[in-house]
Amino acid sequence: MELGLGGRVVAVTGAGSGIGRAIAELMVAQGAVVHAADRAAAGLADLAAACPGLRASVVELTDRAAAAGWIAAVEAASGGAIAVLVNNAGGSLGQVPKDIAEVSDAEWDAVREINLDTVFVLCRAVVPGMRRAGGGRIVNIGSRAGSHASLNGVQAYTAAKHGLAGLTRQLAADLGPSGITVNYVAPGLVLTNPAREAQWARYGEAGQQAMLGRVGLRRLGTPRDIAHAVAFLASDLAAFVSGAVLPVDGGMA
Ligand SMILES: NC(=O)c1ccc[n+]([C@@H]2O[C@H](COP(=O)([O-])OP(=O)(O)OC[C@H]3O[C@@H](n4cnc5c(N)ncnc54)[C@H](O)[C@@H]3O)[C@@H](O)[C@H]2O)c1
Repeated sequence: MELGLGGRVVAVTGAGSGIGRAIAELMVAQGAVVHAADRAAAGLADLAAACPGLRASVVELTDRAAAAGWIAAVEAASGGAIAVLVNNAGGSLGQVPKDIAEVSDAEWDAVREINLDTVFVLCRAVVPGMRRAGGGRIVNIGSRAGSHASLNGVQAYTAAKHGLAGLTRQLAADLGPSGITVNYVAPGLVLTNPAREAQWARYGEAGQQAMLGRVGLRRLGTPRDIAHAVAFLASDLAAFVSGAVLPVDGGMA
């Protein structure tokens, strides 16, 4: 059975590292025309070198004009609408657990901006083209922290990922009549970057075993595990799936 992604224009944010990179690589392998955005030039260059044909753009996605401008540039380069937007850029920006009394406005705002506000801005920019094209797919990368307290203990991250689940549900309802599906993938812990590695190390050996004991499949996820779920939601196989929150966490209790 075909995923139907060949030739589709797919835009992936935060593709310079981790989960976003795995999504971009899988989409390229499926024959999609992939546009990748990230603020990390080195990571993007590395991805582009590994994926001939992929179009990489260095964009600070919390700059609203720059984010919307990237969507317009992708549409112009592809002569039409974006078929699939994957809102992956996000994370807790290296912040560590703190008592709420110690959290600064700047820390709160920075995490909310990339995990929630940027998704609003990108969706607002991409939807008119998708409507003109008669449909499209939006896949938001949320988190288990979108429905539970966060393992990393960053309050703004939990709040933003919960907000992103709400935005997903609202847009699924609003955009369904235009043939646009909007879904949310909720990964468990994936060791993608130094902050996640440090978080894992902080648990210690006993904590790590306890954590793995809560995962039905008794292992952590990989970026490719998450990319597979995204490919499904972007594919023809998921034509009737919208407003869904799909946990990809190995069955975490
Ligand atoms: N790794 C995990 O354990 C985990 C768990 C649940 C959810 N997630 C979510 O998965 C997504 C990807 O996470 P990851 O672990 O691969 O992270 P990562 O840090 O490895 O990659 C995120 C990428 O986004 C880019 N980015 C961040 N802010 C940006 C900005 N303002 N403008 C442009 N690019 C920006 C970074 O440069 C980086 O390349 C995030 O939304 C994260 O919240 C991750």
